[in-house]
Amino acid sequence: MEASRRDFINIALGGMGALGALGAIYPILKTLAPSAASTTEAKVEIDIDSVSELNVRVTSWKGKPLFVLKLPPDLSQKYDYKVRENLKNSAGKLNQDLLGDKPVFALIGVCTHLGCIPLWKPEGSDAVKAAYLHCPCHGGLYTPWGDCIGGPPPRPLFVPPQKIEGNKLIVGEPGFIEQLI
Ligand code: FES
Repeated sequence: MEASRRDFINIALGGMGALGALGAIYPILKTLAPSAASTTEAKVEIDIDSVSELNVRVTSWKGKPLFVLKLPPDLSQKYDYKVRENLKNSAGKLNQDLLGDKPVFALIGVCTHLGCIPLWKPEGSDAVKAAYLHCPCHGGLYTPWGDCIGGPPPRPLFVPPQKIEGNKLIVGEPGFIEQLI
């Protein structure tokens, strides 16, 4: 009798643990799941000339916020971002390795920790003295290319497939980025 009572308690505790784990990863799964808008926003075109330097153009792709950035070419030489080199994207690289030489590029504007939307800080701050992305939820910090420089994010920001044709950045078609999601 005592054994079956203990079994019952163990099963109940196991179930609660599983529910807790599901609750923790649900925001991430929800963010990555295809949305109702997926079919209508499979491709987004942005006029490169309309994006001003050191500003983020916010739009959406497949129902997710999309950050389009145009950075000064010498930004990474002017400031040492102290990137967490061990946190790589799904290609096993830092985002900057793939985006650093592009005149304009797009990132998914969703924190890889628990799915908040990071804020763009073009002037930097006391902590980071150059442009960066700040996730206010738990203090996640990213370079302008989406690499991790602080806080709990476990990997860089996701990067959608994209290519440049003429003066257009086309998000949703593989080019200089195949797919890092
Ligand atoms: S959701 Fe961004 S740091 Fe937690």
